[in-house]
Amino acid sequence: MKFFLDTANVEKIKEFNDLGLVDGVTTNPSLVAKEGRDFHEVITEICSIVEGPVSAEVIALDAEGMVKEARELVKIAENVVIKIPMTKEGMKAVNTLSKEGINTNVTLVFSANQALLAAKAGATYVSPFVGRLDDIGQDGMQLIQEIVEVFSNYGIATEIIVASVRHPMHVLESARIGADIATIPFDVLAKLFNHPLTDNGIAKFLKDWEGHMNR
Ligand code: E4P
Repeated sequence: MKFFLDTANVEKIKEFNDLGLVDGVTTNPSLVAKEGRDFHEVITEICSIVEGPVSAEVIALDAEGMVKEARELVKIAENVVIKIPMTKEGMKAVNTLSKEGINTNVTLVFSANQALLAAKAGATYVSPFVGRLDDIGQDGMQLIQEIVEVFSNYGIATEIIVASVRHPMHVLESARIGADIATIPFDVLAKLFNHPLTDNGIAKFLKDWEGHMNR
């Protein structure tokens, strides 16, 4: 399973990339706005750090505008992936871009039918949002199960990025279901390291070692 970092924060990307944990990065307009930096500048910097795919989202809502933005964004670096919203116009853009060999990530996916449409349009990745479904009382992980099942029924090559990840259980369940990728906020990724028995174990080993040295 691949881990993408869901952030536009360059310092955090560097920190986790140095641990070998970053297979790619996803950004969205909200995450870029949070950093208060120029969009092209921040995507350029992320691509200079991370070898894997880096998703940059278009702002236009019409296919023509999306394609125009995409063609500019891919000039930044080879690993730029164009993030496109799940709309009719979006799928028109995905279809055009896939024929040009431009990789796309269809975002704001909330049903298996939407994921299927994105795959048929030629999307490289689909991003179902589990946390936002949980927020409205639906089971986000159930959606991942459905998409994995549908894609495997037809040998669909589009990769599933579990998005809107809010806690470590989303990561574990994604891995158990067999999703290709989870895109994880850095605070959630940091939590994966933690276990009280690990901390207690280290403290006990050190205590025993000090006792032995003082004998
Ligand atoms: C990733 O591609 C999405 O932009 C992101 O995971 C959305 O997460 P949120 O629902 O926490 O904003």
